[in-house]
Amino acid sequence: MKSSRLDDSIKMIARLGHYTKPEKIEGAIKLDSNENFALDRDFVAGVAAEVARQVDLREYPLDQLDELYSRLAEYAGVRDKCLAAGSGSDQIIELLLSTLRSRRATVFSPTFSYFINRCELHGIKVDQVPLKRDFTLDRKAFVKSAGKSDLVYICSPNNPTGNQIGRQEAIDIIDSLEGRLILVDEAYVDFADYSLSADATKRDNLVVLRTLSKAFGLAGARVGYMVSSEKFVRMFRSTIQSPYPISTLSLAIASGLLARADHIRQTIKTVRSERGRVFARLAEADGIKPFLSDANFIFIEAGKNFQPISKALRNSGIVVKELGNVASHRGCMRVTIGTREMNDKFLQCVEGSL
Ligand SMILES: Cc1ncc(COP(=O)(O)O)c(C=O)c1O
Repeated sequence: MKSSRLDDSIKMIARLGHYTKPEKIEGAIKLDSNENFALDRDFVAGVAAEVARQVDLREYPLDQLDELYSRLAEYAGVRDKCLAAGSGSDQIIELLLSTLRSRRATVFSPTFSYFINRCELHGIKVDQVPLKRDFTLDRKAFVKSAGKSDLVYICSPNNPTGNQIGRQEAIDIIDSLEGRLILVDEAYVDFADYSLSADATKRDNLVVLRTLSKAFGLAGARVGYMVSSEKFVRMFRSTIQSPYPISTLSLAIASGLLARADHIRQTIKTVRSERGRVFARLAEADGIKPFLSDANFIFIEAGKNFQPISKALRNSGIVVKELGNVASHRGCMRVTIGTREMNDKFLQCVEGSL
């Protein structure tokens, strides 16, 4: 029998790049997913317990979304009408890709693989422009490719390399690409030096994606948001997004943490200072090369030391993201910056295996 369209789609989907659930090892030091362990677990749990008593889960979440927008507006320094929230920034990406019917996207490479996988799922051709060896952008090649695309994705700071494209360079690229939708993924921006959030409110073709999963330690609550022009946000909120995209509890927890943003800013400072310390120690070690980062993780090229380091980390119950070969870089891994204690254990393990 001739195969149906549905069979063909299923076969096509089965061949696509996909998400693999990270291995969870009981009691391990988890430095593989860029979560924020510098934020105390009891602090987050305390806020969650407090707000859980105040919400009425029998009602649909109405006011809680408005409260989140007003808290986010204060934190991100933009008008609340320029904000839209989703169940993680993953969901916002998915909604944009599945509704905007883009045909071709330009990304630089390496970058956040989820974005590429979702494009492929939706039949969007992805042109991947290689970053230079030091992970800076080949601007000419990028703009040339972006000129042929209707969608452009810039991860800033970039996952997995950690570096953030210069502000002026980003603005120049965006301004030269009128008529294309530009998504700037700022999942790690709270650890970096600048955000394009305010710029996004003034442009119809720029969407900045942000999340509370990283700096705010809320990966489990699933709260992401986008910043764009009032016009784009109105359409997203009313037509693209479903009416109740985030649970009352997650909304209330997110607002509760945003109300304590000063404490979050303090932990961001700690992570940034630990990032500098970890980088300096890794840079001193022979046989590995760390890359400067603007995020809460560091990309390391370990070359022939990859296997011994990987073995030593596993034996010590430390989990990092093992990337293997990335473009011309050999034996790479990405390590999240954790608490000082976690970072020390990681450093001792790496240094001891060289
Ligand atoms: C670059 C980037 N964007 C988005 C996300 C997803 O964030 P969220 O938890 O808000 O879906 C991640 C998560 O690792 C990420 O690295």
